[in-house]
Amino acid sequence: MSHPHLKIIVSSTVALLAALVVWSCYPKQVGPVGPDGKKLTWVEMNKEQRKVHMRSVVLPRAAVIFGEWRPERFATVDCTLCHGQGAPAGMFDMPTDHLPRLSGEVLLGPEFEKHPDTTRLKLKRLVPEISDALGVKSFSLITRRGFGCYSCHLGPTGPLFGN
Ligand code: HEC
Ligand code: HEC
Repeated sequence: MSHPHLKIIVSSTVALLAALVVWSCYPKQVGPVGPDGKKLTWVEMNKEQRKVHMRSVVLPRAAVIFGEWRPERFATVDCTLCHGQGAPAGMFDMPTDHLPRLSGEVLLGPEFEKHPDTTRLKLKRLVPEISDALGVKSFSLITRRGFGCYSCHLGPTGPLFGN
């Protein structure tokens, strides 16, 4: 018979190793070809390349998700959806005050309570699709790093989880 504590230690070690293995495959080369002939990762792209990537990859995927969710409200979306009124002026800093601040609770208790639909949609579709579009790992509860809610939203007093 295996000891229950040992089981927990073993399974959390396995989870941690699995998280590290997944982390090591990121960032992915999702951008245009760079000077050394390899495709660039999001982090390696310059501002112009990032704008192109946002317009051709991120915005279309976000438009589908928001459009299916609330068709009347999000019939047409543009850069201001996430970046707010700074976008036309060339300000793209994220996370941004343009979006509502979230609680900062890692399990999103208050968000699930107040906005269950948005929170589920974000967690199940938006975060995975946008992190995939950027070629970056999505938020991990173990490492508390990665692309997630706080890559777009601020916490109560500012940016959270390494964003
Ligand atoms: C669905 C939300 C969303 C939409 C729509 C969106 N962006 Fe972004 N954008 C982000 C996020 C999130 C980041 C930060 C990514 C990161 O580095 O973690 C970002 C980052 C950027 C950056 C990099 C900023 C920097 O500091 O280097 C630029 C430039 C940018 N966006 C331009 C645009 C443009 C232009 C559009 C419209 C064509 C657009 N974005 C639409 C979410 C969005
Ligand atoms: C790629 C950027 C992005 C990410 C990631 C993101 N959101 Fe949002 N969120 C938005 C945008 C854009 C809106 C505003 C939509 C609008 O104009 O009403 C929003 C709005 C919200 C709202 C307000 C809803 C309302 O009806 O007032 C809540 C709550 C929210 N997000 C929670 C979350 C949670 C929880 C996560 C993570 C699971 C998350 N968001 C991840 C972009 C993002």
